[in-house]
Amino acid sequence: MIGTGYLGATHAVCMAELGFEVLGLDVLPEKVAALQSGTVPFYEPGLQELLQNNLDSGRLRFTTSYEEVGAFGDVHFVCVGTPQKMGEYAADLTYVDAAFASLLPHVKAGSLLVGKSTVPAGTAARLAVLAASRRGTDVEVAWNPEFLREGFAVQDTLRPDRLVFGVSSARAEEQLRQAFAPVIEPADQGPTPVVVTDLATAELVKVAANAFLATKISFINAMAEVCEVTGGDVTLLSKALSYDDRIGGRFLHAGLGFGGGCLPKDIRAFMARAGELGVDQALSFLKEVDAINMRRRARMVDLARAELDGSFGGMRVAVLGAAFKPDSDDIRDSPALDVAAAMQRQGAAVCVYDPAAMDNARIKHPELGYRESAVDAAKGADLVLLLTEWQEFKQMDPGELAGVVNERRVLDGRNALDPARWRAAGWTYRALGRP
Ligand SMILES: NC(=O)c1ccc[n+]([C@@H]2O[C@H](COP(=O)([O-])OP(=O)(O)OC[C@H]3O[C@@H](n4cnc5c(N)ncnc54)[C@H](O)[C@@H]3O)[C@@H](O)[C@H]2O)c1
Repeated sequence: MIGTGYLGATHAVCMAELGFEVLGLDVLPEKVAALQSGTVPFYEPGLQELLQNNLDSGRLRFTTSYEEVGAFGDVHFVCVGTPQKMGEYAADLTYVDAAFASLLPHVKAGSLLVGKSTVPAGTAARLAVLAASRRGTDVEVAWNPEFLREGFAVQDTLRPDRLVFGVSSARAEEQLRQAFAPVIEPADQGPTPVVVTDLATAELVKVAANAFLATKISFINAMAEVCEVTGGDVTLLSKALSYDDRIGGRFLHAGLGFGGGCLPKDIRAFMARAGELGVDQALSFLKEVDAINMRRRARMVDLARAELDGSFGGMRVAVLGAAFKPDSDDIRDSPALDVAAAMQRQGAAVCVYDPAAMDNARIKHPELGYRESAVDAAKGADLVLLLTEWQEFKQMDPGELAGVVNERRVLDGRNALDPARWRAAGWTYRALGRP
C-alpha cells in the first residue's frame, strides 16, 4: 500500500483484516513510525483497534523503503494524494507520478500496480506506458477508484457498495478479483457488485460520482437561497421532495455545503480535464455547483454579522465544529473553519470547539481561539454558530448553554438543531434556508 493517509492506511488495515499480508509505505517517516507503533495519525472510528489487532497478528507492517515494498508485493495499491494545484483547478499529479516512478524499478515481474488515487482521465493510460517501458517484467497498471467515506471508512472498505476494476487485460482482472476475493464474496452477506471497465471509465466513475453528489448538495442549497427570499422553509421543501423515490432524500440536506479533501478539488479537476479535452461545455454546470457551494459560506458570515447588528467588531463568537464533516478530523477545505476565519478577520473574537479536529485546526488557523468543550467555547459569547453537525452538538442541552452565553443567539449552519427546543430555552434561532 503506497501512501498511508486516510485512504491508504484504512485500506492497508482492512486488507490485513481480510487475511492478506500487507506492507504499507509512506514517505513521511513519522507517519510510518506512528502506524507501526499502533497509532492511527487521524480520526477514523474503529480503525485504531483493527490496526493494533493486525500489527499483533504480524500480517501488517509499515516501511519507508520502496526497495522493500517492491520485493514484497504482488499487487501494489497507490493511494497517494492528488490535491488541487496551487492557483489552478487541475489536480496536482506530482505525488502519483513520484510514487509510480519510485516503485517501478523495484517491483517483481508480473506485478500489478493499481491506482486508487482519484486522477484525471488519461492518467492510468500514461502510467501504463511507463510501466510497459520496463521490458521483460510484464508489469501492468490497473485503476480501482475508491468510494469510502471518512467516518465510515472501515465499513465502506470491508463492505463497499460496489467495486470498479479498470483493467487492460484478463490477467489484471483476475489479479484484482483475487485481491478482493473476501470482499466480493463476503461470508455474511450477498456478493458485492463488480464493474469491470477500461482504464478511462474507471477514472471517470469516481469523478462522476463526486460531481453528482456535489450537484445534489448544491441543488438543495440553491433552493435554500430561493427560500431565503420567499419566506419558504428548505427543510420542509427537501422533506417533501425526498418522498419521491426518483429524487430520494440523501444528500438533499440544505446547509453550509460541502468541503473536505475530495468533492471541491475533484469537481474542479474534472472541469480542468474536460477543458483540456475540449469538452468544457459538458461540465460548465459544475462551475455553478461550486459557486453555489462557496456562496453558502459567505451567506453564513452575512447572517452572523446581521445577528450582531451589523458588525463583528468587539463581538465574541462561539463556533461549534471545525472538521469538514462530523466523525472526522479532516479540515481540508472545511466550510466551518472558512466561516470562523472570515468572522475573525472582520473583527470578531472567535472561539472554536470540535470533538476531533482541534489539533489540525490549530495548525491551519493559529489566529483563532480554541476551547476544550462546547460550553467553554460558548462562555460569554454574543453568538453561537453550529457549523459541523457532530452528534454531540445535536444532543446539546440549550438550557445548559443558555447559562454561560452573553446573548442567547444561535445560528444553525447545518439545519441540525431542533428550533422549537432552542426557542423554548429562550434562544433566538436562525438557520440557512428557513425563516
Ligand atoms: N480521504 C478520502 O475519503 C478519499 C476517498 C476516496 C478517494 N480518495 C483519494 O485518495 C487519494 C489519497 O487521499 P487521502 O485523503 O488518503 O490523502 P492523504 O493526504 O491523507 O494521504 C496521502 C499520503 O500519501 C503520502 N505520499 C505522498 N507522496 C508519496 C510518495 N511519493 N510515496 C509514498 N507516499 C506518498 C503522503 O505522505 C500521505 O500520507 C486522493 O487522490 C483522494 O482524492 C480519498
